[in-house]
Amino acid sequence: MTSSATTEATARLVSTSMAAYLAGHPDLRYTFFGGKGGVGKTVMAGVSAVHLARSGRRTLLASTNPVHSLSGLLDQDVFGRQTAVEGFDNLWAYEIDTKDAIDRSKKDIRQKIQWFLKFAEIKTKADEFVEAATMNPAFEESAMFENMVDLMFKNEYDVYVFDTAPTANARRLLGMSKVYGLWVQKMLKSREEAQSLREALSFSKKKEDDPLMNYLVEFRARIAHARELLTDPQKTAFFFVTLPEALPIAVIRRFIDWFSDFGIPVGGVVVNGVIAPEDGETGSEFVRNRVEMQAGYLDEIGERFPGQVRAVIPLSDSDIRGLPALERAGSALFG
Ligand SMILES: Nc1ncnc2c1ncn2[C@@H]1O[C@H](COP(=O)(O)OP(=O)(O)OP(=O)(O)O)[C@@H](O)[C@H]1O
Ligand SMILES: [Mg+2]
Repeated sequence: MTSSATTEATARLVSTSMAAYLAGHPDLRYTFFGGKGGVGKTVMAGVSAVHLARSGRRTLLASTNPVHSLSGLLDQDVFGRQTAVEGFDNLWAYEIDTKDAIDRSKKDIRQKIQWFLKFAEIKTKADEFVEAATMNPAFEESAMFENMVDLMFKNEYDVYVFDTAPTANARRLLGMSKVYGLWVQKMLKSREEAQSLREALSFSKKKEDDPLMNYLVEFRARIAHARELLTDPQKTAFFFVTLPEALPIAVIRRFIDWFSDFGIPVGGVVVNGVIAPEDGETGSEFVRNRVEMQAGYLDEIGERFPGQVRAVIPLSDSDIRGLPALERAGSALFG
C-alpha cells in the first residue's frame, strides 16, 4: 500500500478529514456505513470501530446486513450475540441474527393481530393476516431496523458502528419512521373513537384495558425517539463508501439525497480502492487504464460531493482482514 497513492487525491478532495469530523463531533454516538454492494462498508466500519475503541471509547460494531462478514473480518465468531473482540477490553462485535430477528417480529405481529381481532370481535384465525403482514420484502428490513433501534435504546456503549445492508430499500426504511408515525396517529384516533363508542354502549362504565391501544401509544413514543436520535447531527452520522467508479457513485448520490430529505445527518463520503498513480506508470496497460479511469471519477467525486469527502483509501494488494490489517487501514481512514 503506497501512501503517496492517495496523498495527492486526499489533498485535492478532502477539506475536512475523518479525524477533523470526529474532533468536531465529540458527542457522536451512532455511526453508519452504507453504500453499494462490495465497496468496503464492512471494512470501513471495522476500521472505524477499532479506531474508536483504541481512542478509549466503549464501542459496539454491529452488522444489520443479512449477508454478514464481521466474523470473517475479525477472524472471530461474533454471530448472534454481542461478543468481546479479542485483544480489546472495550470493543464488542455483533452480527444480528436475521432469522431470529424475523421470528421475533412475526410473533410480535401475531400477538397484535390477535388483540385486534379480539377487540373487533372477529372470529378469524390470525394466520392469514400474519402471512399478509410478513410476506413482503420490507418486513425483513423492518425486523433488522427494530433490532438496531433496540440496541441504540439500550445505551450500553459510548459509540455504535453499524455496518448496513447495501439495499435499495434503505429509503423505505427511512421513510418508515415517518409513515409509522402518521399511521399510528390514525390508528390511535380510530381506536379512541371505537373505544368511546363501546363505553357509551356498554352498561358498565368501567374503562376497558386495550392492549393494542397501549401498544400503539408506546410504539409512537418509540418511533419518535428513534427519529430524534437518528436526526440529531451531534449524535448521528451516516458515512457513505464508494469506489472511484460510476455505479457506486450513482448509488451514494441517491442515498445522500434521500438521507438529506429525511433530515438524517450525512457524515461524509469515504473513497475506497484508489490505485497509486505511480503504479500506473510502472504497471501494465490494464493498470494504466484503470488509473486513468479512476482519475476521471475522482474528479467527479470532487464535484459531486464538495466538502463531504472525508478520506481516500488506497487499494491494497490483498484483502483487508484481521486486526493488524484493520489497524493499518486505520491510518489511511483517520490520518
Ligand atoms: N482498500 C482495499 N484494498 C483491498 N481490498 C479491499 C479494500 N477495501 C475492501 N477490500 C476488500 O474488498 C472486499 C469487499 O469489502 P467489504 O466486505 O468491506 O465490502 P462491503 O461493502 O461490506 O460488501 P457487501 O455489500 O457484500 O457487504 C473484501 O474482501 C475486502 O477485504
Ligand atoms: Mg459488508
